[in-house]
Amino acid sequence: MVMGRDPNVVGIEVLKKNGIDVDKLIKELVTNASVEFTAYYYFTLLRANCTGMEGEGIKGVIEDARLEDLSHFESCIERIYQLGGSLPKDATDFIKMSGCEFLQLPPNPTDIKAILEKCLKAEQGAIVNWDRVCQMTSGKDPVTFDIAKDILAEEIEHESWFLELLYARPSGHMRRKYSGERPHTQKHSRALG
Ligand SMILES: [Fe+2]
Ligand SMILES: [Fe+2]
Repeated sequence: MVMGRDPNVVGIEVLKKNGIDVDKLIKELVTNASVEFTAYYYFTLLRANCTGMEGEGIKGVIEDARLEDLSHFESCIERIYQLGGSLPKDATDFIKMSGCEFLQLPPNPTDIKAILEKCLKAEQGAIVNWDRVCQMTSGKDPVTFDIAKDILAEEIEHESWFLELLYARPSGHMRRKYSGERPHTQKHSRALG
């Protein structure tokens, strides 16, 4: 049985009382979800084009970042619906809102340096995106903040991996134990196992 159409959602009311612009937050989360989903797709192509002896060492790093982008997409979904939002009906609308066209394969698809530069740019954009959500929710919406800060932690790791590969700037990272480990966001993307 479905009751009245507009229930009072205490989980949203408290956020408004705390000073959150809920519509703006939903918009931010849906856009960020589209970036993560689209980046996951483009990283699939970039990883596949890491060929030759040089490419062999790079593809594992891109694979780790790629599977964590899928985790970031998954981490957004439940919260978007809890807040009263939804994902676009048309998948092409969803992909378009990401602004990720820059992640398409370079003119020479197997140019490893160009691939790494694209990966770095994607991670740096993601850091800005998730930092924005952290700023919007800090001290006001602990649930969304927890998700955003955990995604941000992984994006910062990803940036450091690609900085190391491109500039020999040590990242201090140990390789993931397995691709898809997602040490910070695993609890937000349990559907992935
Ligand atoms: Fe991501
Ligand atoms: Fe990332």
